[in-house]
Amino acid sequence: MASNAGYYDWLNFNSPISDCTADRLVRLQVANSPSTILDVGCGWGELLLRLLTACPEAEGHGIDHDEALIKRAESNAEQRGLTDRVRFSPDAGAAAPADLVVNVGAEHVFGTVDDALVALWDLVHPGGHLLFGYQFWERPPSAEVKAFIGDLPDLPQLLAKVTDVGWRPLDFVVSSVQEWDEFESGYMRDWEEMVLAKGDTAVEARKRADEQRAGYLQRRGVLGFALLTLGRPADT
Ligand SMILES: C[S@@+](CC[C@H](N)C(=O)[O-])C[C@H]1O[C@@H](n2cnc3c(N)ncnc32)[C@H](O)[C@@H]1O
Repeated sequence: MASNAGYYDWLNFNSPISDCTADRLVRLQVANSPSTILDVGCGWGELLLRLLTACPEAEGHGIDHDEALIKRAESNAEQRGLTDRVRFSPDAGAAAPADLVVNVGAEHVFGTVDDALVALWDLVHPGGHLLFGYQFWERPPSAEVKAFIGDLPDLPQLLAKVTDVGWRPLDFVVSSVQEWDEFESGYMRDWEEMVLAKGDTAVEARKRADEQRAGYLQRRGVLGFALLTLGRPADT
């Protein structure tokens, strides 16, 4: 029985992505045989490590400014025998162009979603792919949800942003409600474990979990998450 409040301990990804979706995304990227893979805002690097496992010739670079997450990434890389093919660093300024670039739930590293789609163009080699994960409105939000989350496009508007920059959408998938439920449950689970272990003394953890759950239930089925595999044409 887990008893320590952790730090994303119950999540495989810090985005609403199931193992099944991750497997499919990895297969899609492997088909383009990337030799170099860059993940900007990689968290603990789970997707990057899975991609490197599936592409045994490839080298990877993960960037995240959260030191604790980088430590988890490095430890997982060691356990999977990947340390000679992957490195992690904290500074997005260290990003160098690659055959495959991953930017999932981390567009803010570059500014707005529009800023990110432009900046990432220069980081993907011509003929390469960008795996881009971003939020959108599946249904019109309530005023409360919109005030909390901010402005977002709907899915057609998101895809228009992408093609306006020159990317070609090779594939897109949208997280299911089950993927969102699993993600939000895993996100709150660290706090719930603390409440279970410490009872009434974990007042702050209980408050955070209850607020998070209430907020999630308001946006459930309204806030969407899209994973886009985007191609940069070879002649650009
Ligand atoms: C929502 S998480 C997504 C993590 C990962 N891509 C995933 O899906 O599991 C966003 C990540 O971006 C990182 N991040 C945010 N701003 C950053 C910056 N300026 N430079 C580097 N990393 C950043 C955060 O630390 C966090 O791990």
